[in-house]
Amino acid sequence: MSDSRPIDIKIILGSTRRNRFGDKPANWIYEETKKKPGVVAELLDLRDYPMPFFDEPMGPAMLNGNYSHESVKTWAAKIKEGDAFIMVTPEYNHGYSAVLKNAIDSIFPEWNDKPVGFLSYGSAMGARSIEQLRQVAVELRMVPIQSALHLPIGMYLAVMNEKIPVNPDLFNPLRQGMMGDRIESFFNELIPMARTLQAMRLGGK
Ligand SMILES: Cc1cc2nc3c(=O)[nH]c(=O)nc-3n(C[C@H](O)[C@H](O)[C@H](O)COP(=O)(O)O)c2cc1C
Repeated sequence: MSDSRPIDIKIILGSTRRNRFGDKPANWIYEETKKKPGVVAELLDLRDYPMPFFDEPMGPAMLNGNYSHESVKTWAAKIKEGDAFIMVTPEYNHGYSAVLKNAIDSIFPEWNDKPVGFLSYGSAMGARSIEQLRQVAVELRMVPIQSALHLPIGMYLAVMNEKIPVNPDLFNPLRQGMMGDRIESFFNELIPMARTLQAMRLGGK
C-alpha cells in the first residue's frame, strides 16, 4: 500500500550564486518539511549538482534515461527518488534562475506525474518567477499546486542577515492574516497530491 511508504519530498535550492539569500528559506522549509508525518525530506542544493549547459543529442524525453554526462545521471537518480518537490526560486529580471532551468531541462521522465510547490522571494515576492515555473511544470507533466510560499519583502529583509538555521519565528507572518496559515495550506495540498500520484505511479498506468 502506498500509505505505508513515506513521501519523499525534495527541496530544490534554485540559486547558486555567492552570497545568495535562497539557502536561508530553503533550509527553513526543509526543516518544516521534515516535521510532517509520513514524509522524508532532502535538500538538493544545485551547487552540489553542477551540470553542463544542456548538452544532449536528443530531448531527455527520448533518451530513456541514457544521459551523456555522469553529473546529469546523478541528478536524474536523485529526482527519480522524489515523490514531490519544493522549488525555492529567486526572481532575476522577472524570471527564475538559469541554473534552475538547466537542471529542469536536463532530464524529463524523472519529473513526470509528481507534484511541485514553489517558494519565492523578491520585491514582488517572486510572483513572476513562480508563474513562469508553473507553465514549465505542466510541460514536464508535473502537477503544480495552487498554494505557494511568497516571502514578503519585510520578511526577506528580516531573514537576510540571519545565519542558518534561521529562527523559524521570522517566517510566522506566513501563518497569520486573512489567508490563514499558508504554510499548512501549502503542505495540505502538496502531501495529499504526492500520495495520490505516488499510488498512481506504483499502480502502473
Ligand atoms: C540579475 C538580478 C536580477 C534581479 N531581478 C529581480 C526581479 O526582476 N524582481 C525581483 O523581485 N528581484 C530581482 N532581483 C533581486 C533578487 O530578488 C534578490 O537579489 C534575491 O536575493 C536573489 O535571490 P538569491 O539571493 O537567492 O540569488 C534581481 C537580482 C539580480 C542579481
